[in-house]
Amino acid sequence: MEKRVNVWTCLILIICLYIPSISPETETKAEKQCTGGDDPDSSNKGCGCAATNRKHDDKGEGADQSERADELSSSAEKGPLNLGPAAVKSPYARTNQMVYIPGGVFTMGVAQPILPGDGEGPPREVEVTGFYMDVHEVSNAEFGLFVNDTGHVTEAETFGDSFVLETRISEEVLKGISQAVAAAPWWLPVKGADWRHPDGPDTDLKGRMDHAVIHVSWNDAVAYCKWAGKRLPTEAEWEYACRGGLKDRLFPWGNKLTPKDEHRLNMWQGEFPKENTKADGFDGPAPVTSYPPQNKFGLKNMVGNVWEWVSDWWNIRHTTDFKKDPKGPDSSSDKVKKGGSYMCTKEFCYRYRCGARSQNTPDSSAGNLGFRCAADQLPQYLDIPEKDEL
Ligand SMILES: *[C@@H]1O[C@H](CO)[C@@H](O)[C@H](O)[C@H]1NC(C)=O
Repeated sequence: MEKRVNVWTCLILIICLYIPSISPETETKAEKQCTGGDDPDSSNKGCGCAATNRKHDDKGEGADQSERADELSSSAEKGPLNLGPAAVKSPYARTNQMVYIPGGVFTMGVAQPILPGDGEGPPREVEVTGFYMDVHEVSNAEFGLFVNDTGHVTEAETFGDSFVLETRISEEVLKGISQAVAAAPWWLPVKGADWRHPDGPDTDLKGRMDHAVIHVSWNDAVAYCKWAGKRLPTEAEWEYACRGGLKDRLFPWGNKLTPKDEHRLNMWQGEFPKENTKADGFDGPAPVTSYPPQNKFGLKNMVGNVWEWVSDWWNIRHTTDFKKDPKGPDSSSDKVKKGGSYMCTKEFCYRYRCGARSQNTPDSSAGNLGFRCAADQLPQYLDIPEKDEL
């Protein structure tokens, strides 16, 4: 198993290195290894960020899929209680607080795209109306409240599998897997992997209740936010919130990855996918409360930790016309995700940047993909947290 994967990893790296880039003048040495070109079909597949898609042999286009969010509910072990988000009681510390993000005009997108195939550019002026944003990514504890209350069954549970990073899977479970993702051999579809079994059927949430929930599809995320009296943020809202009032910066706090040699996000250190040195403190998904707030809005883990679904359909061509509260294209096959994950390195997936983006089909799930919610109005059951509680 290990030998086959190493060969594949090498092949992918070699292919990545030789894909000619469309805009070479914007490339640096490290970035060169992972540009997928400007072709929408090949865009960023080389890095595996978008490789964790479900096959759609027996199903329609993505547009039909989004209706599944409403259909997805049946009886779970203990649910449904149908108390609603205001009445549910959690045995865990709550992390569902929101902060107000004052509206404003900002430059969305990247002037010198690092991954042009992702549609990072061109930069465009966008106005965002004030809104509320979750301080944290949704944790297993918060998602568990929703599941207990509604009986929601996630798509990974319905399909019976989800993608897990190979190095996180036990030897026992690995033995039974023969199929890998050609474009990203470190992703393996694991039967019985779902939010409650994050690294495969022989793992559970013990000690991980405060970690970001993973193996949730876009449809699952929509259903959770709806239950919570919230909604998914648009890509424009997400990026505006990420940039935190700074202009033309890579990260929510500026351009330096580790200011004062302090780690500000959960990413991959070391040679991906072989070894994560955990210099930032974490191997896989981290508690949603990890690290200080990443910018002046008080938001945590906007970049790094887990990818976050946003509401927009994916495309890579954007008008530079001024837009107010843009919601993305009317439809396409994929949904946008933002922020990168604990699996990102500069060489393999330089997407832990506010302007970076990637995509998956709305029914897809993986071990590095989660979400947070936004809202036009603060749900009545929530108070604005004091700054020092964040
Ligand atoms: C969900 O219900 C189960 C069974 O009653 C319970 O053990 C668990 O703590 C609940 N989860 C949350 C997040 O409250």
